[in-house]
Amino acid sequence: RLGEPVSGRPVTVADVKVVVLTGAGISAESGVPTFRDADGLWEGHRVEDVATPEGFHADPELVHQFYDERRAAVAEVEPNPAHVALAELEQLLGDDLTLVTQNIDDLHERAGSKRVVHMHGELLSALCARCGRRIPWEGPMVGAPPCGSCGKGDLRPDVVWFGEIPYHMDAIIDALVECELFVSIGTSGAVYPAAGFVQQARAFGARTLELNLVPSEGSRFFHEARHGRAGDLVPAWVAALCHP
Ligand code: NAD
Ligand code: APR
Repeated sequence: RLGEPVSGRPVTVADVKVVVLTGAGISAESGVPTFRDADGLWEGHRVEDVATPEGFHADPELVHQFYDERRAAVAEVEPNPAHVALAELEQLLGDDLTLVTQNIDDLHERAGSKRVVHMHGELLSALCARCGRRIPWEGPMVGAPPCGSCGKGDLRPDVVWFGEIPYHMDAIIDALVECELFVSIGTSGAVYPAAGFVQQARAFGARTLELNLVPSEGSRFFHEARHGRAGDLVPAWVAALCHP
């Protein structure tokens, strides 16, 4: 809890450095399916077919269709109180909050968060598989022309697939080293490296808190775990942090 000495001195909301990691669970109440829950996104698809570089090479159209459906679905939904609470926390903490998300939706931004670290990429971006250029993208990618920059490369969704290295890892590790509080929200703790952040933050002296519907695979690594809906737990946690 905030207010408890973490590294020998009392912490106040004014100077605490916080890293928040979010996963599919924070967007569940907005109507975006998670990956590994009963009605999860992988249902009906082999992950190797739609979320690996090899799958894209074998059948780009199938992969584009999969992400085109995700992009269209996300455009229809709205941020929920959990996203809004994190945007309010950013207002209060400014640069002392690092919001890292595994989500490829833009619901944090639409709730008002300005500095979101998308470690698994973004649906609203296309990436040239040849020259690496990124292009903001809103519509379907099926049938997209070659990259307008190099003129040759195939465009792919700008998302991190299995077997690829997540984005912004240096900045994330720096934030984990520096933070006094690490909070994981709505993630199953099944996919590394994100699943390992709790132990890294803890090893560097942070207090750690899980907010998830059910105990995650890494629940035991946290100092404290609260289980319930993100739309209830996150606003309550932010309110307690801001008005102890
Ligand atoms: P892993 O956790 O060791 O490796 C995951 C790899 O995926 C890492 O190299 C990581 O860099 C990369 N990665 C990071 N973000 C990603 C993203 N957004 N999309 C794709 N890849 C990303 O091992 P793993 O076996 O690949 O899977 C991790 C966990 O996920 C396992 O617990 C596994 O059971 C689970 N999993 C579940 C399903 C499913 O629900 N059907 C499918 C595959 C993996
Ligand atoms: N409130 C809080 N937590 C919830 C809610 C909710 N309303 N609904 C579901 N959850 C929890 C689930 O219990 C589960 O533990 O959210 C978690 C979602 O886990 P996953 O579906 O595995 O999603 P995530 O952890 O984000 O997946 C990690 O795997 O395949 C990759 O790229 C993909 O970024 C993703 C990564």
